[in-house]
This record gives sequence, C-alpha cells and structure tokens, in this order.
Amino acid sequence: MFDVALKQFCDWLAATALSHTIQAVSWIIPTVQTIHILSVAVLFTAAVLVDLRVWRLLDRDVPVADVARRFLPPIWPIVLVLLITGSLLIIGEPRRSLLNSTFYLKMALLAVALALTAILQWSLSSAPKMPNKKAMWRVEQLAAAASILVWSGILFAGRWIAYTQAG
Ligand code: HEM
Repeated sequence: MFDVALKQFCDWLAATALSHTIQAVSWIIPTVQTIHILSVAVLFTAAVLVDLRVWRLLDRDVPVADVARRFLPPIWPIVLVLLITGSLLIIGEPRRSLLNSTFYLKMALLAVALALTAILQWSLSSAPKMPNKKAMWRVEQLAAAASILVWSGILFAGRWIAYTQAG
C-alpha cells in the first residue's frame, strides 16, 4: 500500500517541469553533484578535525573549545546546501533514491550524526562547567568516536545508492 503510494509519488515528481528540466539540461546533474561532493568534503573535514582534537590526536596546543567553536557551527549551513543539492538530485531521478533502502539508511545515519554534532557543540563550546568533568570528557570522547564512524557510514551509503538501485 505504502509502496504503491511511494511509486506513484515518484512518477508524479518525475513528471514535473523541474524534473524534466533537470533531466533535459545536461550540465545540471554534474554541477549539482559537484556542489554536493564539495560540501561533503568540507563538512567531513570540519567534523573529523573536532573529533580528532577531542581524542588529543591533533592541535593539542589549541583549547578544544576553540576548535569546536571554529569548526562545528559551519556544519549546519553546509547541511542545508546538502539538503538542497540532494533534493535536486532526487527530483531529477526520484525512483533512484526514494525506492532505495540505502537512501533511507543514509538519512537515518544523518539524523544520528547531526544529534552527535549538536551534543558535541553544546558540550564542548557552550555547556556550563560540569562538576563531573572527567565523566563528561569520556562522553565527549565516545561521541567523537561515534561521529567519525557515522559520518563515514553516510559517505559509504551515499556512494552505495548507485549500486543498490531499485524500481
Ligand atoms: C542532507 C540531505 C542529503 C540528501 C537529501 C542527499 C541526497 C543524495 C542523493 C540523491 C545522492 C545521489 C545518489 C545517486 O544517485 O547515486 C547523493 C549522493 C551522495 N551523497 Fe548525499 N544527500 C544528503 C546529505 C549527504 C551528506 C551529509 C553526506 C556525507 C557526509 C552525503 C554524501 C554523499 C555522497 C558521498 C554521495 C555520492 C556522490 C557520487 O558518487 O556522485 N550526502 N546524496
């Protein structure tokens, strides 16, 4: 039932004027993909720089709060660019992503990655001083390790969509 409705939605989306334009104008998809991939590169770099600093593997002479304040806030506008470019890719070929379970895995991982980013941003750069600093540091280290794994999973799933196409 839901499957049928989703397929109908994909067909409706593929028949819209915007989808036709994306399909017909040859430079649109490569341009949008390029912006998507460049944004991915910037986002991943920003997230991993903070994660490695939390684990004291990078920039040890710079306070962790400064590194977090510098690199975590830009992640949010970049996610917006990814959302816009990703949506354009979907509109151009709706069935390729919307009927593909790998796409939903990627979106679920993205929700987890954004939650981890919000936790780290709050805890590292703006949290009021906690009485139990050591326990807090452990939580931050765990969140940073999970962040690297989950962002990597999103990269993998993003590429994998092309190899697990349905309908
Ligand atoms: C914010 C919402 C996002 C949406 C709606 C979205 C959507 C898409 C779509 C539709 C594709 C094309 C897949 C295909 O046809 O093969 C794609 C590719 C990709 N996405 Fe995203 N994406 C989003 C965010 C992200 C994020 C946060 C990352 C990684 C940190 C990411 C990494 C990738 C990668 C690596 C590819 C493969 C690019 C290629 O090989 O051409 N995406 N995305």
